[in-house]
Amino acid sequence: MKYPPQILDSIKARVNLVEEVRKVVPEIKKKGRHWWANCPFHGEKTPSFHVRDEGNYYCFGCGASGDVFTFTMETQGLTFTDTIKKLAQQSGVKLPEPERRDPAHEEQRQSGYKALERATAFFIRNLDPVGRQYLHGRGLSDTTIADFQLGYAPDAWNDLRDALLNEGFKPDLLKTAGLTRESSKGKGDYDFFRNRVMFPIEDTSGRVVAFGGRVMDKSEPKYLNSGETPFFSKSHTLFNLHRARPDIRKGGNALLVEGYLDVIALWQAGLKTAVAPMGTAVTADQLLLLWQAAPTITVCLDGDSAGRAAARRVSMLALPVLEPNRKLQFLWLPEGDDPDTLVRKDGLTAFTRLLGQPASLEQVLWHNLTAGVDLASPDSRAVVESEMGRMLASIRDNIVRKSYTDALRNRLFSATRATKTGGKTAPKFGAEAMMQGAKTQAPAAYRPPVAAHPALRRLLAVLTRYPQLLPQVDEIIGQIDIPAGELRELTQALLRLYMQGADLEKVSADLLAGPHSATVTALWREQGVENADEEPANILNGLVGYFQGADRDREVAGDVARQLSQGGLSEQDWHRFKAGHRANKTVQ
Ligand code: UTP
Ligand code: MN
Repeated sequence: MKYPPQILDSIKARVNLVEEVRKVVPEIKKKGRHWWANCPFHGEKTPSFHVRDEGNYYCFGCGASGDVFTFTMETQGLTFTDTIKKLAQQSGVKLPEPERRDPAHEEQRQSGYKALERATAFFIRNLDPVGRQYLHGRGLSDTTIADFQLGYAPDAWNDLRDALLNEGFKPDLLKTAGLTRESSKGKGDYDFFRNRVMFPIEDTSGRVVAFGGRVMDKSEPKYLNSGETPFFSKSHTLFNLHRARPDIRKGGNALLVEGYLDVIALWQAGLKTAVAPMGTAVTADQLLLLWQAAPTITVCLDGDSAGRAAARRVSMLALPVLEPNRKLQFLWLPEGDDPDTLVRKDGLTAFTRLLGQPASLEQVLWHNLTAGVDLASPDSRAVVESEMGRMLASIRDNIVRKSYTDALRNRLFSATRATKTGGKTAPKFGAEAMMQGAKTQAPAAYRPPVAAHPALRRLLAVLTRYPQLLPQVDEIIGQIDIPAGELRELTQALLRLYMQGADLEKVSADLLAGPHSATVTALWREQGVENADEEPANILNGLVGYFQGADRDREVAGDVARQLSQGGLSEQDWHRFKAGHRANKTVQ
């Protein structure tokens, strides 16, 4: 009995090894990045059984090692097949009929891979001059062409077929591997790919399993891809994953783009973490494949309505498979550009600059829920709340569900409050603006005067005075768009110290000793935080609520800020913020 490796990967990615170990050894504990437990395979008093995020375990005491399959097999005394069945059921993966381990069948498989490899060589052999010229015209160097084994399928009906038959491959095998098709006119099989530049598609172990072929003119279809074959499952394959995996692991981040040429252009420009689906919509299995290599996936999308629809789709599909160490974020490209055109036009730095400002999954979910909804209306708000409940319920992981519940409820709370204090539809900025479909940044005149802005000054005063509060607000601070100037530089200096892992108790002293000391002391005096007479966490709660509102709707936020500016935070404001914060906490 044998199941396809993609299915096993898919199960493995959905079952959390730590949770499985916890069922046997409830005392398993996280230390640093890894988990430790007393080894269930030999008696011991101090933990030497070690689980890594990638889903493998190793015991330094007895040498036991393996993955969730061997763990379940050995701790529950099951056969391999029963283990797979059990874990498949537990994780909601549908098992196909197992393949028989039949030697003839195995030989067929090997021979199929071989045929695909020989087809790759055939296309490479035929690249000159037509195909190479086209690829040069697309900006690809000969090195890149060789790295990706790009080739050309001649403008002929039987060249590949005849070449491979000559090498001794059987006609049926070529058909099974998707290289030829049967003619309806009874004239024998013909080559599936003709007059196209050829992009070999490899599986995770680097074997060619399929091809994408692009026309060199405007004819349709632009890309032709191998159909499903025993060697190739579109929904479990990502173009370039085996090549990109080392860099994805190193950086902890995978970039998911749309097209083969986007992947290749980025690679040539030096960004070697990009992969693409097979011209089909992204699947949960593809996300899981990427999460096996890195905790963060950045999905790169067109800044048009199709891109926003794709973001909605991908975000919903990710919810059931989210876990604490699986992060998804989104990057919108300017309308009309793809990574290929962008990198060619403006170079890699233009692209990496965009990469620095992704939209979070939370932002996308929030947008999915509220785009075009008038939150001031109780009816619409009820609809949003019920959809939100359904959305959150599809998150299977308890910890993740809890944190998204908190985050989205907070947003709903702040947004509702913001619309009550004078809601007009406001211009949208940044990542959220892309989701709203705004074409350009709103004119500068619409921006609230953030520099003079008392809430920001207060926030900075509090954070420079009590840097130990930073971990609670770091994400929010990153989202505030502060105009260039002293306050922005101070914010950046503060964040830099924080990101570098400075001792938070000493950050105030560092700032006072640095170039921003005058600003810092002025802010403290102005905001009355030189001597702590207010509870810093309280100050923060109000301000955090405010900035979360600002993230959604800057003009309204500007109004709130202007209200607050009349004498900073009044006692009444205080009570409102604190009550709000408490109400937030008790919603669930
Ligand atoms: P795009 O149409 O965005 O093309 O398709 P592209 O990647 O920018 O290609 P170039 O730059 O024009 O060469 C994105 C992806 O969708 C799939 C392919 O995988 C392509 O890379 N696709 C597109 C198809 O499978 N068939 C098509 O007819 C078109
Ligand atoms: Mn393109």
